[in-house]
Amino acid sequence: MRILSGVQPSGKLHLGNYFGAIKQHLELQHEHECFYFIANYHALTTVQDRELLERLTREVATVYLALGLDPDKAVFFRQSDVPEVAELTWILATVTGKGLMERAHSYKDKIAKGVMPSMGLFNYPILMAADILIYRSELVPVGQDQVQHIEMTQDIAGHFNNTYGCEVFVRPEPKLNEAALVPGIDGQKMSKSYGNTIELFDEPARISKRFMSIKTDSTPIDEPKDPDQCSLYALLRLMASPAETDEWAQRYRRGGVGYGQVKKRLAELHQELFGPARVRFGELAARPEYVENVLRQGGRKARQVAEEVMQDVRRACGIVTSEGN
Ligand code: ADP
Ligand code: TRP
Repeated sequence: MRILSGVQPSGKLHLGNYFGAIKQHLELQHEHECFYFIANYHALTTVQDRELLERLTREVATVYLALGLDPDKAVFFRQSDVPEVAELTWILATVTGKGLMERAHSYKDKIAKGVMPSMGLFNYPILMAADILIYRSELVPVGQDQVQHIEMTQDIAGHFNNTYGCEVFVRPEPKLNEAALVPGIDGQKMSKSYGNTIELFDEPARISKRFMSIKTDSTPIDEPKDPDQCSLYALLRLMASPAETDEWAQRYRRGGVGYGQVKKRLAELHQELFGPARVRFGELAARPEYVENVLRQGGRKARQVAEEVMQDVRRACGIVTSEGN
């Protein structure tokens, strides 16, 4: 099965990114043909500072490698190393109704948060469709917030195939796991743009502080609590063993659990889960040429696949290039 996913280099990666998306990416690399990339063209919609974008692109790649992405198993690359996606974005835009884009939740959310309503932001789902379709991806592992974009990709693929009476594009499906919507410290979806994240590789003292600041209700310690209504328990389910999670659930229901205790345990679990990868991150960050080399080689492999699909696309719609493709 061909799997593809991307993550934007628009800030520090957090628990929502890890449990909703990256964890799936790492698991799938062992059994499938996987393509994972750093979506730096997408990030231009919010990061318009050359040095910052370069740094974040390298940093996100380094995080993936530190967490266990194996470049011998998955094709790991930078979006911009396959400039054909920008060409495909244009071609797909010509078969995409404006009404479809107007229904995008992410566009409305982002402008509500103060992001400039540029044409790039408006067309963002078409670029994402190009990313997915250019590798004929079948499955796209993501968190809940990206599902609408994949449904739009299905529509766009269908419009192209119908318009040109061909089967150039495969219909992709989203793939979610049990962590499709990880809550942030304010109880809303954890997101870089809400300032409510708990990062993967922050200093342990800062991580502890972030856990301590998670919003909880004011039920007294002795009273029984419903674990399913509590963000702390939602994080425990992702981070603790099933046996420990069950134990916490029983303690919640019995009463006697103080939220401070749970927060302290979450900070320890964070350290257990990400401490070793944080050390590897430090080591890899000192070898930027290694990271660059991985991305470059991945880019070459990805571009080869993309170029073959683009030949079918150009042929299907009658675009002739001087190279004869
Ligand atoms: P952010 O919202 O922080 O900017 P991105 O849009 O870069 O995150 O998301 C990268 C990947 O992580 C996507 O697949 C997205 O669905 C997933 N993701 C982001 N936040 C969460 C969350 N709170 N819960 C589950 N998955 C998430
Ligand atoms: N829009 C995705 C996000 O913000 C990143 C992304 C870009 C992506 N292209 C993609 C994800 C293609 C999956 C497939 O998280």
